[in-house]
Amino acid sequence: MKTIIDVKNLTKTFGSRKNKVNVLENISFSVEEGEFVGIMGPSGAGKTTLLNILSTISFPTLGSIVINGADLTSLKGDNLSEFRRKNLGFILQDFHLMNTLTARDNILLPLAVEKKSLAEIDQKIEVASEMLGIKGILNQYPDELSVGQKQRVAAARALIEEPKIIFADEPTGALDSTSATELLNYLHDISLHKDTTILMVTHDPYTASYCNRILFIKDGAIFSEIVRRGSRREFFNKVIDMQATIGGGGRSNAISSGL
Ligand SMILES: Nc1ncnc2c1ncn2[C@@H]1O[C@H](COP(=O)(O)OP(=O)(O)OP(=O)(O)O)[C@@H](O)[C@H]1O
Ligand SMILES: [Mg+2]
Repeated sequence: MKTIIDVKNLTKTFGSRKNKVNVLENISFSVEEGEFVGIMGPSGAGKTTLLNILSTISFPTLGSIVINGADLTSLKGDNLSEFRRKNLGFILQDFHLMNTLTARDNILLPLAVEKKSLAEIDQKIEVASEMLGIKGILNQYPDELSVGQKQRVAAARALIEEPKIIFADEPTGALDSTSATELLNYLHDISLHKDTTILMVTHDPYTASYCNRILFIKDGAIFSEIVRRGSRREFFNKVIDMQATIGGGGRSNAISSGL
């Protein structure tokens, strides 16, 4: 097994000198190639912050991150863009679709830079849109799509280049259960057969049960980790137990804080 993500002593601080908040504090972990890792924890725990740093959208205050042999803190400008394009795919919490482009052109955006042949592009979009059930909406613009449709377009865009590593933030949040299950089966499949590494933030135990391992984050630090050894059902129950131990997911937090 090859380590593909190696995080050491990662700290992220927001705010000015007087008003500093450590949103992530001294986080260390590593991920092997082909692992499907979930990141869970209460709302505000720092999950999106962590994912954004690993996916090079934002930068750590302290610590080191090595992804596929490259030290992220030393990559800048064009080198960083090239690294991102060659290695990473994103399905983010807000979908980052371009409103001036159709769904089809949004999905094709990563391929445009690569100068692929038309036939190859058509074939890739056929496969991705079939799998995600979005063939009928390819010519519509993001404004004309439902939240779930936007999420599927964003997923297709992330998957079309078959990146080595996929970062997903609540990828099933806006999907009905059939589309969610299809997407999860696909993610599970590529982690198993194509050695794609996946890091996925989710609040949902069903979604999480597709992972091999889950890191639980609380107050900006790793609280615990669970590894799947038996059936998905067993793992699902473990996730629920751990959520209860850690103090619930986002929803239960929101409810109790309103009382
Ligand atoms: N740019 C920022 N400036 C200041 N504080 C921030 C910034 N971004 C996030 N935070 C704070 O960092 C903490 C963690 O936020 P983050 O979005 O990572 O949480 P999360 O675990 O993804 O939550 P959720 O489950 O609700 O998506 C929160 O308290 C948030 O207010
Ligand atoms: Mg978040």
